[in-house]
Amino acid sequence: MKEHCFFATTAKGVEEVLAAELTALGASGVTRESGGVSFGGGMEAAYRANLWLRTASRVLMTLAEFPCETPEQLYDGVRAIPWTSYLTTGMTLAVDSNVRDSALTHSGFVALKTKDAIVDTLRDRFGSRPSVDTKDPDLRINVRLFRNRCTVSLDCSGMPLDRRGYRLERHEAPLKENLAAALVELSGWDGSVPFVDPMCGTGTIAIEAALKALRIPPGLLRAGFGFQRWPNYDRLLWSRLVKEARQGRLDALPAPVVGSDISHSAIAMAHQNAKRAGVGEFIQLERCPVGELIPPPGPGVMVLNPPYGKRLGEEEALRPLYKEVGDVLKQRCKGYTAYLFTGNLQLAKSVGLKAARRIVLFNGPIECRLLKYEMY
Ligand SMILES: C[S@@+](CC[C@H](N)C(=O)[O-])C[C@H]1O[C@@H](n2cnc3c(N)ncnc32)[C@H](O)[C@@H]1O
Repeated sequence: MKEHCFFATTAKGVEEVLAAELTALGASGVTRESGGVSFGGGMEAAYRANLWLRTASRVLMTLAEFPCETPEQLYDGVRAIPWTSYLTTGMTLAVDSNVRDSALTHSGFVALKTKDAIVDTLRDRFGSRPSVDTKDPDLRINVRLFRNRCTVSLDCSGMPLDRRGYRLERHEAPLKENLAAALVELSGWDGSVPFVDPMCGTGTIAIEAALKALRIPPGLLRAGFGFQRWPNYDRLLWSRLVKEARQGRLDALPAPVVGSDISHSAIAMAHQNAKRAGVGEFIQLERCPVGELIPPPGPGVMVLNPPYGKRLGEEEALRPLYKEVGDVLKQRCKGYTAYLFTGNLQLAKSVGLKAARRIVLFNGPIECRLLKYEMY
């Protein structure tokens, strides 16, 4: 099988757990970089990564890398790629671009020039050209310019991997599914002790924990992947991987996974989401203010994602909630390792506990902390 270079993208701060996931999947040449992890292998490695990775956003397959300071270098570099192996004139395409610290500064221009080079290649060869569909293309192409080096890749995932498909309902500030999965991974929870999210909102963190403990790959829930629309799609290979995954699923959780929230409507959404994710019968979800929380006896792992207020004045109003979280941890969570995820460090101080570890993570553009508390 032909070997390729792949790059799995993720949020800043998640690279280490993503690399561990890839290593556990048996990927070769796993190397951490800023914003993602590179690895090698045949198409099976890419299919497996798309099916199993919990913390990645996308899996990209590198086609070419070249120095690029001018529009001409970009155009020529893109035209040198054998596009007819990946694209037919009947297919649709879209080009995503990111540009940083380079002579070409406009990402829209870079995407346009790349698209021109691709369609010109096919038109010269076949007399007609593929059309553009930015929303739902058959082939998504990624072009990245960093310090005047251009990397052109195919997006194997299509729709980002965080969109598992189980979450149709939105409540306040839900976490992206792959960031929720990263919190579970970073907590070190292995499924053998209770997992509790007392501010579960739409249930994302608890659902990701249950999927992990039941060995359900998140990709089983999705409608499809980019690579399934490529001309060389290996249907048999994919069916084998899906079959293996289905056979490896557990039919019971080794330890309880519990989610609660003060909001009735959030809990109703969490129930719907858990059901769609296929874990509805396994997770315990109930309405309960954090002040009344009684977790299963420890040892256990708790992950809390309280609101952190973006507007002025909100911080003051949220201070008592953070203090209450601290009191509950001290009084009722003996034996637990608790992780608080917040974008507001001032508020975190109101918890009144000394963090044993602080992990920097980005929730979109917001710099956040995952704070670890050992409740002996
Ligand atoms: C940032 S959201 C959590 C989002 C969640 N991680 C998700 O992905 O949907 C914060 C949640 O804390 C809940 N909350 C606020 N005050 C609470 C309290 N006193 N007890 C329990 N939950 C509370 C809110 O209802 C909200 O769902």
